[in-house]
Amino acid sequence: MTPVLDLVAGARPNFMKLAPVVQGLVARGGLEFRIVHTGQHYDPSMTDIFFEDLRIPAPAVHLDVGSGTHGVQTARIIERYEAHLLKTPPSGMVVFGDVNSTVACALAAVKLGVPVAHVEAGLRSFDRTMPEEINRLLTDAIADLLLVSEPSGVENLRREGVNDSKVRLVGNVMIDTLMSQLPEARERRTAARLGLDGRRYGFVTLHRPSNVDDPETLATLLGLLQDLARELPLVFAIHPRTVAAAARVGLAALVADGQEHLICLGPQSYLDTVSLVSGAAVVLTDSGGLQEETSVLRVPCLTLRDNTERPVTLTRGTSRLVGNDPARIRAAFADVLAGDWPAGDTIPLWDGKAGGRVAEELTAWMNRRCPTRT
Ligand code: UD1
Repeated sequence: MTPVLDLVAGARPNFMKLAPVVQGLVARGGLEFRIVHTGQHYDPSMTDIFFEDLRIPAPAVHLDVGSGTHGVQTARIIERYEAHLLKTPPSGMVVFGDVNSTVACALAAVKLGVPVAHVEAGLRSFDRTMPEEINRLLTDAIADLLLVSEPSGVENLRREGVNDSKVRLVGNVMIDTLMSQLPEARERRTAARLGLDGRRYGFVTLHRPSNVDDPETLATLLGLLQDLARELPLVFAIHPRTVAAAARVGLAALVADGQEHLICLGPQSYLDTVSLVSGAAVVLTDSGGLQEETSVLRVPCLTLRDNTERPVTLTRGTSRLVGNDPARIRAAFADVLAGDWPAGDTIPLWDGKAGGRVAEELTAWMNRRCPTRT
């Protein structure tokens, strides 16, 4: 019998990691897979459009969990994924990244004896106030195969006492997606369609609880964006969480469309995002994925956080931590505009071939776990 793997994704940043693994498994053959979508993200602009852009096959299973508090959302995912596992248990399962769907499905699986592989294992911000850091720690503690994107991940896992035999440095699958989609993304000329043809501009995203959930911090950051946009037009692709947070505290006007210098849009498709990022003079963001993408595209990135679980983007990439202090952000912004910014370097194993390496490792893993297959 051919082993069957569940590939579990649920939230936007999972989808660009899922796509190259699907391609790698299809190209290699020898393993069957089912895509399981938890439904953590459900707006078409946060999910369907990624499946379309990245030509990911439609999920075989949809758990439709939707939003909720962390406890509610995580519990609902565990309950629904467990029911699926009991009905049709796979030989193993794969989770991606650090979202609630990642930890919830890993936990449901391991309790039923289904082995777990974690793509993007080992990353640590060492900031346990971040929900993602808790998700990373817990997922890695119960995973059987830890597929790591950058050397810091290997060191972190070793320090936590994880046996080296479970750990593989495979590189960054998300960069496979970036490299394969870049030509099509550039052809979109998204900036030109926004009236920025030939003009320098910046690109902004903001959604972390640490930046948007506290009204004072949110007001400061949104006010700062208004100022910076007068120096350089900014395109702000706004996460629904941020729109809701701004509306709650009476700041909806600062994220409304129709502004002269700050172009406010809803969540953008993958291709439009890459199109905008690749042509930007600077990116301001608190996204993990964008720190990596800007590093490969050699676009200066002001990371609005005090820490990062992706330190290679600081040591070899183009990202710098600027926190959420306006003075620090302004100073870094001025440095970029003055051309005073590191150019970035190539990052080992971020080469567009990580999906193939993941497929190899998953196949070898299943061969070890299911040795009786014929
Ligand atoms: C989640 C991940 C975060 C990731 C981000 C990317 C966790 C803990 N966080 O954060 O690591 O960087 O995705 O987007 O898993 N909402 C919608 N439509 C949707 C989805 C969400 O309107 O399709 C709104 C809802 O108001 C929801 C809120 O966004 O309550 C937050 O969604 P949630 O999935 O809980 O976390 P994100 O902030 O998206």
